[in-house]
Amino acid sequence: MLVAQISDTHILARASEHPAAQLRADCLRQCVADINQQRPDAVIFTGDTVQHGRADEYSRLRALLEPLEAPLYLIPGNRDDKDALGAAFSDKSYLAGNGGFLHYTIERHAVRLVAIDSTFPGERKGRFCEKRQTWLVKTLGEKTDRPTLLFIHHPPFDVDDHYVGGYRRPEEAKALEDIVSRHPQVIGLLCGHVHWPVERDWAGTQARIMPSIAVDVRKGVDEDDADGAPIYMLHRLSEETGIVSQAKRVGDCASRIRAR
Ligand SMILES: [Fe+2]
Repeated sequence: MLVAQISDTHILARASEHPAAQLRADCLRQCVADINQQRPDAVIFTGDTVQHGRADEYSRLRALLEPLEAPLYLIPGNRDDKDALGAAFSDKSYLAGNGGFLHYTIERHAVRLVAIDSTFPGERKGRFCEKRQTWLVKTLGEKTDRPTLLFIHHPPFDVDDHYVGGYRRPEEAKALEDIVSRHPQVIGLLCGHVHWPVERDWAGTQARIMPSIAVDVRKGVDEDDADGAPIYMLHRLSEETGIVSQAKRVGDCASRIRAR
């Protein structure tokens, strides 16, 4: 199964005067075009889709994502407003009816997809409260024989000096690690939030953080090498090999960055 991952696009409204408004839209547009050429089975969007959680930002986001051919699975980041996100993507039935949490499962693919909501209104850091813990234990317990990919906005582990104490309550990040470590069917965890690419072992499985699609807030990427182009991730998934990941550099945003 081939999964494309996008994250942290931080899209701004069409009318925004922010200097990176057009650049960020161009980055996402070019990624969408390239993803269509790769023909993935699914596209996972690990949050911070827009900058301020506003309806006019979601309407621009929606238009930019419209050409995407593969099924799209969204989760919120701390920059998102769950009500506004749900309203803009009201056709995505998976976003509805989970008691205020945008967590869900997708069963239609070779690998089971489990989306985890790590956000809380007004909170920049991650949360994984008892209700969410109960939901994940039940969800993973239902299909222990199905290879499963988890995705979440906030990584539940530290990354050197760049991201430390990312959860408001460290015991909640530990609870997530404990739950996943008891479920060997989990082949990986995909994250956003840090804007910095990381691969590591975690909870008996593989974890990945991808760089932000928005190149103006991206970190940890050799910018001479990337030449300003956006980078998204392609993950090939199987029960035997787990996750094999490729950072896919796209298009020619570079000319626009140099012009800024
Ligand atoms: Fe972000």
